[in-house]
Formats: sequence, C-alpha cells, structure tokens
Amino acid sequence: MWEDIQVEVEKVDAGNLKTKPSSGDLGFGNYFTDHMFLMTWSKEDGWHDAKICPYQDFKMDPASMVFHYGQAIFEGLKAYRGKGDQLFLFRPADNLERMNESALRMCMPRFPVDKVLKSLKALLYLEKEWVPHADGATLYIRPTMIAAEPALGVRPAAKYHFFVILSPVGAYYAEGCSPTKIFVSDEYVRAVKGGVGKAKTGGNYAASLYMSEIAKKAGYTQVLWLDACEHKYIEEVGTSNIFFKIDDELITPPLEGTILGGITRDSVIKLAKSWGEKVVERKISIDEVIEASNAGRLQEAFGSGTAAVISPVGELFYHEKSYVINKGETGQLSARLFSELQSIQNGQQEDSFKWVVRVG
Ligand code: COI
Repeated sequence: MWEDIQVEVEKVDAGNLKTKPSSGDLGFGNYFTDHMFLMTWSKEDGWHDAKICPYQDFKMDPASMVFHYGQAIFEGLKAYRGKGDQLFLFRPADNLERMNESALRMCMPRFPVDKVLKSLKALLYLEKEWVPHADGATLYIRPTMIAAEPALGVRPAAKYHFFVILSPVGAYYAEGCSPTKIFVSDEYVRAVKGGVGKAKTGGNYAASLYMSEIAKKAGYTQVLWLDACEHKYIEEVGTSNIFFKIDDELITPPLEGTILGGITRDSVIKLAKSWGEKVVERKISIDEVIEASNAGRLQEAFGSGTAAVISPVGELFYHEKSYVINKGETGQLSARLFSELQSIQNGQQEDSFKWVVRVG
C-alpha cells in the first residue's frame, strides 16, 4: 500500500533529452517533456510501482478494459513560471480531489492526494526547464487514470494505471484571449442528469466531437451545450464553464451534476465577489440570454477553464441567427479576471485566497 512504497526515479540520460520547442510555436498539447509519473493499482496490492520515469509508450493488452468500456478519467492543471524563476501551481489539490470524485463516479480507485501531489512536485522540479519563460505560456499537467485489466465482462476493472504527463502550452484557442464565436447546440447534448457530466471522463469529450465538428465547419470555435431534457437551459462550453454578465449581474449555471465543477469557475466566482460584483449561480435559459442581447442588456460573456483561462465570447449563433456580444470585443470584467488570475498564478499578485503552491 502507498505508505510502504518509494517513488523510484529513473532519469533520461543527459545526451538523450529532447530539444525544447520555442515558446512561439507551442499551440496546445503538441509537445511532451522528457519524464512522466506512473503508478499502478491492483485489487491485491493497491497502488504500487510508483515511479518518475522517461516519457514512454505503454504496452497494453488489446483486451484492456479502457479500450472497450471507457473507464478513463483525467485532469488538467498548469505550472507557471513567476518572478525570479520560481515555479507555481494553482490549486493543485483541488484538481486531484476532483479526480478522486471522478474516480468514485466511474468505479475507479481513489488515491492519496497529498502523496500524489508530492510526486507531482518532484516531477515538475525535474522538468523545471520545460516550464516556458514566455508570457502566457505555461506547462500543462495532465494526470490520467485508465482501466488496464484485460477482460471483456462489463464490470469495474481490477487493475489501473495512473500517469501524469506534461506539455508546454500556449493559448488553447487559436484566438488567444481574443473573443471566440460560439455555436449554441439545441439538437445534440453533452450530458444528462444522473449521468457522468460532472466527471472528467474521456467519454464526455468524445460525445462532444460530432457537434463540435459541425460548429467548426460553420466557422465557430466551440459549442455551447443546453440541458438534455428541455434543450433550454445553458450548461457549459465543452472545454470551459460559461458566465454571462446581464444587467450588472454575473450569472453562471449551477452545479447540478451535468457540468464540470471548474476550479477556474470557482476562482472567478470568488474573485468577482471579492471585487463587489454580484455573482449568482442559477439556471439561465438561452431565451433569457437572447432576450438580454436583443434588449442591449447582455454586457459580456466568457468561458473559464484551466486550458482556456478566461475566454471572452464575442458572438453566439442560435437558431440561424448571430448575436454579437460587446461589439465582439473583450469585456472589461473578462479582461480584469484574465489579468488578475494570471498574476496570482505566476506569483506576481498577492494570493489572498491561498490558491498558489510553490514548487521547489
Ligand atoms: C482543461 O481546461 O484543463 C481541460 O481539461 C479542457 C480540455 C483541454 C479538455
């Protein structure tokens, strides 16, 4: 069990280290660092074989249950380079706790957050040169767990791999932090009440691809999902939560099991409240947003997420009609949230919420 195991460290030979990409060419998730963290869980031994090792391919049995029944969960967080080259993580324990909640929902084993966080910090320290120096570029961290038992019966697997890979990234959207165009889907849905919408499991993302491709072909960056029952209430954008500022009130859909409980979402709510903004978590229908837009009361809209950070929405497309938000420009609140979050994350701004964790 975890208490007894040592995290082995196997380093890549200095001569075999990868060439690091230049910060301008990063995009999102295209490059991976030299090392990764890996451990295995089995019914008999619990978590074992924990190691920091060279980034490597997996050899997996084609019957591994993840390939058939989709037991796969993941997380996304980032390491930031701040003043004096100090590295920081933003609310990392919250990501790992959320992963444990996803594990529970998907019948997968939970792990000790403090121990995994310690290993993650050790991995980051080893890979510190991979954390980009350029403004806005970060090292994206992807913890993942997959079912590894080779068996075809439909039941929870008896063996899992947990791994963490690291990828130096720039902005998630090609638009950077310029406003995106969003397609509102009232035909296809992402998640249903009682389903797995709030779990960060690969299937939720697979389910979003069909509509996302249609939206992309029509010139839209992302899809805004509506509820699966009435196709009326706003849920989330597949890669981020969503906020609307209407009549000086910041509104975001409540966490009722169908959307991801975003850590950036929670940070936005807390930050905005601390500035005296009125923030409400409540059901909001697409009709209410369209009505507010028509009446000139929709002041701004933005998505929030680890990858997307704060991503302003410049246009909504719904029922064959386009609704431009804030003249297609980044709103004041979106801009303030983006810059404040960024300066907390890279340690430049006082961290009164105690969100930031130093590495090394
Ligand atoms: C994140 O914001 O980290 C996400 O997981 C979104 C995504 C790139 C799947």
